[in-house]
Amino acid sequence: MTETDGRRGVVLITGGSRGIGAASAVALAADGWDVGVNYRTRADEAARVVKACEELGRRAIAVQADVAEADQIERLFDTVTAELGPIGAVINNAGVVSPSGRVADYDAARLERVFRVNTISAILVAGAAVRRMSAAYGGSGGVLVNVSSRAAVLGSAGEYVDYAASKAAVDALTVGLANEVSKEGVRVLGVRPGLIETDIHEEGRLERIGSTPPLGRPGTAEEVAEVIAFLASERSSYMTGSTVDVAGGR
Ligand SMILES: NC(=O)c1ccc[n+]([C@@H]2O[C@H](COP(=O)([O-])OP(=O)(O)OC[C@H]3O[C@@H](n4cnc5c(N)ncnc54)[C@H](OP(=O)(O)O)[C@@H]3O)[C@@H](O)[C@H]2O)c1
Repeated sequence: MTETDGRRGVVLITGGSRGIGAASAVALAADGWDVGVNYRTRADEAARVVKACEELGRRAIAVQADVAEADQIERLFDTVTAELGPIGAVINNAGVVSPSGRVADYDAARLERVFRVNTISAILVAGAAVRRMSAAYGGSGGVLVNVSSRAAVLGSAGEYVDYAASKAAVDALTVGLANEVSKEGVRVLGVRPGLIETDIHEEGRLERIGSTPPLGRPGTAEEVAEVIAFLASERSSYMTGSTVDVAGGR
């Protein structure tokens, strides 16, 4: 598949039913990709995203899977491959935040939840992507884009230091895995969104701090999706191991 014929193959997006994942599905479809839209609970929202991709002339399917469960990750990748064809890009996007609180008050259950979804599942998804795309496994190459957070650098004191730490691990994953697999035809990249208007925030948070980034406003999911689509494409062909801030200067 070449990019000059307007088609870019198949992309799988975890957490594609809402927010940054949903906007990325649409941006990637507009860029010529067929799209596997993963969701955990919101079948209605995932169906809406699939419809939007189809209206752009692409093939798209919604696949329910909880990426916190290893066997469901394998089923997700197998379903997308069986229905759409070999996967050429994966957007490792599914994530959750923790409720606001200080480190001194965290309990183990809270930490297990945020690290399971944001870190352990991200590493398992990355492994599944490598097994499908790497030349070392018979694949034709591809791109993995990890969705981190600007919190990984800022630390999120008083809000969710655990979330920030779970995303700092994703940044390390991007660097380490890029060093492992770039020679096998798989480029590994990341984005660090800042304050983006989605449902992930606690009520009132965006209103309270939305104007604090140097650009004076929160970002939109579409503004992050634009960068993700660029990273997934050949337009970023000499990039690997990098994580790009999309944070309004924050
Ligand atoms: N918004 C921000 O300001 C911001 C900033 C920095 C980083 N990020 C990161 O960007 C990513 C997307 O965030 P968002 O703001 O778009 O969040 P969102 O609007 O809350 O959407 C989260 C998406 O992830 C899915 N999801 C959650 N847990 C899942 C699981 N275990 N298995 C499969 N899917 C799961 C949800 O599926 P259902 O709808 O089916 O439940 C939904 O599609 C996250 O990794 C987040 O940490 C966001």
